[in-house]
Amino acid sequence: MARRKKIYEGKAKILYEGPEPGTIVQYFKDDATAFNAEKRDVIEGKGVLNNRLSEYFMTGLGSIGVPTHFLRRLNMREQLVRACEIIPLEVIVRNYAAGTMSKRLGIEEGTQLPRPVVEYCYKDDSLGDPLVTEEHIAAFNWATQQDMDDILSLALRVNDFLSGVMYGVGIKLVDFKIEIGRVYDGDFQRLVVADEISPDSCRLWDIETGQKLDKDVFRRDLGSLTDAYTEVAKRLGVMPKGATAMAKPTLIN
Ligand code: TYD
Repeated sequence: MARRKKIYEGKAKILYEGPEPGTIVQYFKDDATAFNAEKRDVIEGKGVLNNRLSEYFMTGLGSIGVPTHFLRRLNMREQLVRACEIIPLEVIVRNYAAGTMSKRLGIEEGTQLPRPVVEYCYKDDSLGDPLVTEEHIAAFNWATQQDMDDILSLALRVNDFLSGVMYGVGIKLVDFKIEIGRVYDGDFQRLVVADEISPDSCRLWDIETGQKLDKDVFRRDLGSLTDAYTEVAKRLGVMPKGATAMAKPTLIN
């Protein structure tokens, strides 16, 4: 059997050529990185959890009419997505101050913001994904004004959806990052939510206890990342209660 072609390997995922033209297979690795890959580890089961969680969020977005690149999950670690041209921006939406916003502006982590704040970072690991303004985006032609209007409206819709879903299971959506892709239908281009939506790219805090259920558990050495992601998956009903991400085969007598 011919080996399938690897298109790209990133920090947390590998992209392979899909079975039909215009499709890509996204493989979720167990690798965790933080601080621009200065801190790294392999967290058993993370890829399986993120594959399931991203499927859940992307499918939910699709069902309320927010376009995404997601087509279907293929297996424990892989999903089929539409090939798209990724706009080189990390689109961040914040509801509460945390992380770099707290550091940059001296706002205590957890402070509720007066309204959702959308930020853009230029996707370039060698530069550490620097914060950019719409002036940079327009001047360097990373996206048009029409794209920016569409990106803002997509980001806010994703925020409302994710905030609501999380609130329903007792979790506060502090912030998150999405990536946006262009897909072409004949002569027309449209924008879709691409990449992944998972606890790797969100800040999720338990509403009652403030416990962190996201990648900060890894960044700040706060315990088991798999346990945190499993908790999110269980609350959302994505994983049956009692199941673990890496269910071991059971011996049948
Ligand atoms: P931010 O506070 O800017 O950075 P950091 O995570 O380094 O403290 O991140 C805001 C949110 O966006 C947070 O949930 C993590 C996510 N994010 C990514 O997933 N990838 C990225 O490259 C960036 C810049 C942010």
